[in-house]
Amino acid sequence: MTMELLKRLSEVAGVPGREETVRQIVLRELKPLADETKTDILGNVIAMKKGRGGPKVMLAAHMDEIGFLVSHVDEKTGFLKIDPLGGFDPRVLMAKRVVVHTESGDLVGVMGSKPVHVLSEEERSKALEIKDLFIDLGLPGDKVRKRVQVGDFVTLRQDFVEMGDLVSGKALDDRVGVYAMIEAFRRVKKHRADIYAVATTQEEVGVRGARVSGYGVSPDIGVALDVTVASDVPGAQESDHVTKLGKGVAIKIKDSLSISNPKLVRRLRQVAEKRKIPYQLEILPRGGTDAGAIQMAKEGVAVVTISIPTRYLHSVVECAHKKDIQATIDLLVAFLEEASEGDYAL
Ligand code: CO
Ligand code: ZN
Repeated sequence: MTMELLKRLSEVAGVPGREETVRQIVLRELKPLADETKTDILGNVIAMKKGRGGPKVMLAAHMDEIGFLVSHVDEKTGFLKIDPLGGFDPRVLMAKRVVVHTESGDLVGVMGSKPVHVLSEEERSKALEIKDLFIDLGLPGDKVRKRVQVGDFVTLRQDFVEMGDLVSGKALDDRVGVYAMIEAFRRVKKHRADIYAVATTQEEVGVRGARVSGYGVSPDIGVALDVTVASDVPGAQESDHVTKLGKGVAIKIKDSLSISNPKLVRRLRQVAEKRKIPYQLEILPRGGTDAGAIQMAKEGVAVVTISIPTRYLHSVVECAHKKDIQATIDLLVAFLEEASEGDYAL
C-alpha cells in the first residue's frame, strides 16, 4: 500500500464549500478508472463504473475538512477573527500554525490567544472558546487589509507522517475515506453492480453534498466511508472505546444520523469472515456520516457506513492504523465484487 496519495490528500486544503483543490486531485485519480465522471452544482465528484445489470451502489466519502472563514479583519492591528466550519474542540486549536487562503495566494499565520501570564484567575478557570482565538499573520493592518477578505478560508497547517504502524496528520477525516474509496474503485474488477464513487462536499456542516448527490444518483445501496472514534487511549474505559486501532475495519451499526440496514451489516460481516478481513462492530453515540443523508433520497435507500478507526478526531494529529485502512479497502472490494446483490428492503 503506497501512502503517497493519502499524504497528498491529507495535506491539501479544503473546507466545506471550498473543496476545489481536493476535487482536482480526486478527479485526476477517478477519471481514468471510470466509464463516466461528472461534478454537480455543490461540487460533488461522481464517477461511475458500469456493471452488468446488478444493483446501483453508491460509495460516498467526503472531501471537506473542518476549518474556518475569516469573519473580521482588524484594520488597525491586522489580527483576524474567524468563524468555524464544523465542530472544533478549541483546546486543540491553541498555538497552531494556520494557512489563510486568499485570492492572491496563501498566507501562513498562527492561531493566537492571550498568554497565560496575563490571564485573570477567572479567565484561567474558564474553558477556551473559539471567540478567544485570533489569527496573527505577522503583518500590519494596512497590508492585511489589502490581502485578506472576509470569507477567505482558513485551514490548519500540518504535514502527514508515517509513525510506527500508524499514519498521522490533519484531515484524515475524511481524506482517508476518500483514499480508501479511490483505491477500492481502482482495484474492483468483476462486478455486476453499477458502482458510483462519490466524493462529497460539505459533510462537516450537515451532510449537504451527500443529500443532493444521493438524490441525483438515487442508488439501491449507499455505503458511506468515513472515520470513526477510536478512544482506545489511557484513561478511557474499555466500554467507551467505540473502536480500537489495529483491530480492523469497523462496520457501523448506528450513529446519530443513521441506523445501518441490518441486512447490509450481516452481508458485510459474512464477506469479511469469508475473506478473513479483520473487522469490528461500531456504535457511535454522537456524530454522523453521509449515510444519514443518502438513506433519505427519494423513496429511501439501504445504507451502511464502513468506518476507519481514528484517534484524536478533529485534531491535526489524527491517527489511523495502516492495517485498518487496508482492511477497509479489502472489504469494500469484496462487497462490490460479490456481495452487493440481494433484497435489502426491511
Ligand atoms: Co468530521
Ligand atoms: Zn468525516
